[in-house]
Amino acid sequence: MPGIEPPVLAEVRLRINGIDHELTIDTRISLLDLLREHLDLTGAKKGCDHGQCGACTILIDGRRANGCLALAVAHDGAEIVSIEGLAEGEELHPLQRAFIEHDAFQCGYCTPGQLCSAAAMLAEVREGWPSAVTPAGDGGVELSDAEIRERMNGNLCRCGAYANIVPAIAEAAHP
Ligand code: FES
Ligand code: FES
Repeated sequence: MPGIEPPVLAEVRLRINGIDHELTIDTRISLLDLLREHLDLTGAKKGCDHGQCGACTILIDGRRANGCLALAVAHDGAEIVSIEGLAEGEELHPLQRAFIEHDAFQCGYCTPGQLCSAAAMLAEVREGWPSAVTPAGDGGVELSDAEIRERMNGNLCRCGAYANIVPAIAEAAHP
């Protein structure tokens, strides 16, 4: 059609949940849409598509990120983990077990993002990253409920399951 430019395509290589992919993508596509619309990995959810709810949280090279804000073309060569890749085969991730034991979800829409975010958050704590509520000093991070709430505040739960999400994460951190 006159006046409409065709999409710009790019080749990218991504390792997604342990599987290598060589993909030709539209340079405008987000990692979230690539996973959901092209690779049938619909675990990461689209709540807002604006970086505000955390439902799309995935791990990019081990760090949590909003898949809706991450352009796939900008992550050529990256290792991506979505909720489908969090378990070890049939063995659930400790956070998944804790969420089930603590009934830490209702509709479950936010849960894949909560789990991916919490997995990376616990790694950040192990590495000693402070948060806005970490007391000053070099005494390390004590993962209090306040720390969990602060560190998970990018993941909203419309069902308000926070009262069970926090103890589930605390248990996974201190089994
Ligand atoms: S869908 Fe990405 S932050 Fe809401
Ligand atoms: S369990 Fe429904 S949005 Fe969190």
